[in-house]
Amino acid sequence: EKGTYPHFMLKEIDEQPFVIRKIIQEYQNENDEIKLDPQIRKAMKTCDRIYIIAAGTSYHAGLLGKQFIEKLANIPVEVHVASEFSYNMPLLSEKPLFVYISQSGETADSRSVLVQTKKLGHPALTITNVPGSTLSREADYTMHLHAGPEIAVASTKAYTAQMAVLAILAVDTARAKGINLDFDPMQELGIVANAMEALTDQKEDLEELARDYLSVTRNCFFIGRGIDYYVGLEGSLKLKEISYIQAEGFAGGELKHGTIALIEEGTPVIALATQENVNYSIRGNVQEVEARGANSMILSMKGLDKEGDAFVIPHVHDLLTPLASVIPLQLISYYAALHRDCDVDKPRNLAKSVTVE
Ligand code: M6R
Repeated sequence: EKGTYPHFMLKEIDEQPFVIRKIIQEYQNENDEIKLDPQIRKAMKTCDRIYIIAAGTSYHAGLLGKQFIEKLANIPVEVHVASEFSYNMPLLSEKPLFVYISQSGETADSRSVLVQTKKLGHPALTITNVPGSTLSREADYTMHLHAGPEIAVASTKAYTAQMAVLAILAVDTARAKGINLDFDPMQELGIVANAMEALTDQKEDLEELARDYLSVTRNCFFIGRGIDYYVGLEGSLKLKEISYIQAEGFAGGELKHGTIALIEEGTPVIALATQENVNYSIRGNVQEVEARGANSMILSMKGLDKEGDAFVIPHVHDLLTPLASVIPLQLISYYAALHRDCDVDKPRNLAKSVTVE
């Protein structure tokens, strides 16, 4: 039920801090150790390469999952769009582990890959919000997102839950492999949950940004570098699916290779600047698009912010910034859709779970 909320999407955006706290609780035992099916731990520890398969928003979470697993647990990861996998089947390693990420657990494109890889005899782990769903039943192992039912077509809390669970999985695997980490995922996720709460309290500012930048435009670009680029991809998917604004996410460094030709007087550009190592270069990109007339806004993180930034997220661990930085993007999309009189929870032409290939 929506309760006092006008839309499920807004309610689900607001639920994110609680979902993260629930995940911390569900994945921790009484000795403050990570609680995980020992078979999943073994599968992660013994594989030589991970293949993440997903679609849409879950694919975007997978791109971040790759960063977590490679950086923390030192296992190579490939991320594939489910619908493309069979045309571009990669050469598989000797001991692959397939990880299916799906909010609904019913996405037909992902299921068809699962059927294929099971036939080849490869182990599969499904990360889903619906245990008992098709992808969960047909895989060897399941990790539950604990996000509660997600009703709005636009995925919000499932995305942040997927990233939280992937971060926990990456740390558990690192520990199982004897890698010493200076990163306590539960503590860092606790900080993220508090940041999320502060962010969802800033709806008025975000509504104003949506009004100023997006109420009449036909297009909008998101730019970022490194993990900010992946969050930009998610921000652009959110905006296009519910507001019907043509939105695209680009890597800041790619602008000069073609994309910058699209910038006209007044084109909205949303730049993410939450990473220290790319802070200088992404701000350079913003100057480049502004010089061509863009109406740009910078969304940065406390500590890396500069005067004039449109929005600053609270400080969270470098690797986990997407869990916080996506929230203003979700809210900006929500208000843009609202200002444009769109059906926020049930956008045209879309279904909550895509059960056809
Ligand atoms: O249920 P799934 O996570 O497998 O769904 C995958 C996509 O269909 C889904 O994420 C879609 O892109 C959302 N509408 C995005 O908000």
